[in-house]
Amino acid sequence: MKFKTIFEPFKIKSVEPISMSTEEERTLSLEEANYNPFQLHSKDVLIDFLTDSGTSAMSSKQWSAIMDGDEAYAGSKSWLKMEEEVKDLTGFEYILPTHQGRAGERILYGYLGGKGKIFISNTHFDTTRANIEFSGAEAIDIPIAESAEPMLSHPFKGNMDTDKLKELLKKHGSKKIGAVILTVTNNSGGGQPVSMKNAIEVSNLCKNLK
Ligand SMILES: Cc1ncc(COP(=O)(O)O)c(C=O)c1O
Repeated sequence: MKFKTIFEPFKIKSVEPISMSTEEERTLSLEEANYNPFQLHSKDVLIDFLTDSGTSAMSSKQWSAIMDGDEAYAGSKSWLKMEEEVKDLTGFEYILPTHQGRAGERILYGYLGGKGKIFISNTHFDTTRANIEFSGAEAIDIPIAESAEPMLSHPFKGNMDTDKLKELLKKHGSKKIGAVILTVTNNSGGGQPVSMKNAIEVSNLCKNLK
């Protein structure tokens, strides 16, 4: 008989208390923050949905790997292990680790960007757009029209509008376009999913660009 889990298959080893608040207190905190979640203090937040970055609990294997980490200034065996895994996953020859997504974007768009360059995305994540615009380039969002209809049901509201992509590729050409960025899931577009079909179409349109 196939065992059907009715609870999470792990034990939770540590707990972090959260401060409980009333609806009135949360309403007041939001007013004081001018409805900008970046201005809220975490102590005033009961359940934090602002980001998924680094918010989950670590496994016992991850914690124990920290103790096994090689802190050598150069040639660390932990680095070699990570490099091998990332190469295997991405197929890229050169790997440059950064401590955060936004730091990686700063390096990448500093190199690909610059005045006169165009970047196209289903929706640029806030730090992606900031790094692109900081370089002097322009960031254009082309999500499918359905993404702007909150009450409409659609399985892949994070998709890129491939007709608009075709037009933009034709209009600007490969020299002007810094990159086409398909963010999966479409984080700033409400975390909506992107279909594999859409990813393949976007990839093919880019590969065929002269
Ligand atoms: C597309 C994209 N870029 C950048 C970031 C920012 O990552 P970090 O918080 O590691 O800087 C995120 C985070 O979700 C992201 O989805």
